[in-house]
Amino acid sequence: MAVLDGGVMVGKTKMLARELLSASVIQDRVKSLAAEIATVYLQKGELHTITVLNGSLHFSSALRLAIAEKQPALGESMTSDTIHLASYHGTGSSGRVRKISDLNHPITGKHVLVLEDIIDTGKTLSVLVAELRIQQPASLAVASLLRKPEKLMVDKSELSEEIFVGFDIGPEFVIGYGLDYDGLYRDLSAIYALSPMTK
Ligand code: IMP
Ligand code: MG
Repeated sequence: MAVLDGGVMVGKTKMLARELLSASVIQDRVKSLAAEIATVYLQKGELHTITVLNGSLHFSSALRLAIAEKQPALGESMTSDTIHLASYHGTGSSGRVRKISDLNHPITGKHVLVLEDIIDTGKTLSVLVAELRIQQPASLAVASLLRKPEKLMVDKSELSEEIFVGFDIGPEFVIGYGLDYDGLYRDLSAIYALSPMTK
């Protein structure tokens, strides 16, 4: 039986989990994204990443390793920090962003790249970007593994100067590769879209 063949319980409803992006498709895209990012930041001369926990843990780790492998000179000077935000309850965006833990290092004058798992409505990212801009980083960009263009509710200018996106996807709720439903399914190596089960 393949992973999640029996479906996934979302509250009291059983949902169908369809593989949207396989592990190898994700790995290949993370590598090509890393190459793109490495070229840009080699020119800037430095890279300071901010990983938004928990969702982007796997993406951040794979991406940073691939950047350092692609451009060892950049890899040697790369620095990183984390911030823990929570904005989601169940499968709908709450629109409110709660900070569970903050950054440990100032970003003033640094070339900062925020690593996100997914841009859904974009509200979480716009709140974070506004807060980071106050510190006046040398540049501020975002790399997000996934983006749901149909659900975007904020202006693109609120989402930093430059955005690197792994995959644009539809509006469905997704799980796997860091993305959870109520704390579950983060450690699946593929990404699955949830939809209602038809009998
Ligand atoms: P936004 O503020 O609506 O853009 O939502 C941002 C956060 O909600 C993301 O960083 C995720 O943690 C979570 N999120 C949004 N869509 C999904 C999804 O399809 N699956 C799991 N988490 C999601
Ligand atoms: Mg997130």
